[in-house]
Amino acid sequence: MRNSSLEHSPLKGALLAQLGGAAATFLFVAGLSRLSSADFLRIPLLIALLQGGLAAMIALKLKAPRWWIPIHLVFMPLVVLVHGLDIAPGWFLAAFVLLLLVFWRTDASRVPLYLTNRATADALLELLPAVPCHILDLGCGDGGLLRRLALARPDCLFTGIEHAPLTWLVARLRCAGLPNVTILRRDFWTVSFGGHAVVYAFLSPAPMPRLWVKAQREMSPGALLVSNSFAVPEQPADATIEVADRRNTRLFLYHPVPDG
Ligand SMILES: C[S@@+](CC[C@H](N)C(=O)[O-])C[C@H]1O[C@@H](n2cnc3c(N)ncnc32)[C@H](O)[C@@H]1O
Repeated sequence: MRNSSLEHSPLKGALLAQLGGAAATFLFVAGLSRLSSADFLRIPLLIALLQGGLAAMIALKLKAPRWWIPIHLVFMPLVVLVHGLDIAPGWFLAAFVLLLLVFWRTDASRVPLYLTNRATADALLELLPAVPCHILDLGCGDGGLLRRLALARPDCLFTGIEHAPLTWLVARLRCAGLPNVTILRRDFWTVSFGGHAVVYAFLSPAPMPRLWVKAQREMSPGALLVSNSFAVPEQPADATIEVADRRNTRLFLYHPVPDG
């Protein structure tokens, strides 16, 4: 059975696996060094490899997503290897801050940054109503998609919502000078979907059930929800568009209506 608190907080699960791996390694090494004075117990990389293996096993037991397993395997060995390179600690802090500003709370939102490609933007353009209207991009990333759409449809008003500070800033700069684009630094869960003819989402499987509830509650009658790549679970799409790109992108189209 899945531990739902860990499922909602992957970082907690990862920390548990790492700490568990470290504790088990400590006990193993302490026990073994009492029995023998084996020299290999003094090789940090070997100890780190052991910790990585144990952390990965704990993560498997906790039913962590598969992609966490290689991360657990290499995390501590990489720490040991990089430690040997004698890099000033400030660089690690700088890298951490940069990643934070770009990815923000991906651990909580479960939505990383990846961008809509040109072919998909063109397919989305085809879906926009022929008349002037409002379009909302939930998590607009670097604003590249909105810029492309706004240039092609100067008669429409585009709003992009982005919570990651640096990504938001890049979107603001990219769309500066386009009078029909507004980029807001917000959490899109706090923004109403009402009044928009098209709401576009390129997120991940995690928020789709909640997104559907919000869309049903707030979207205007007849408005279109377009989800790039991720379908709403147990909700048949009104239509699906297959984009002729390399990643075989699929757009799932819905016309949400209030439940009940
Ligand atoms: C997969 S990217 C899509 C970017 C852009 N829409 C595109 O298609 O090129 C998802 C973006 O949503 C942002 N995001 C995730 N959750 C968010 C939230 N709750 N509020 C605002 N932005 C969010 C992420 O920071 C990321 O930039």
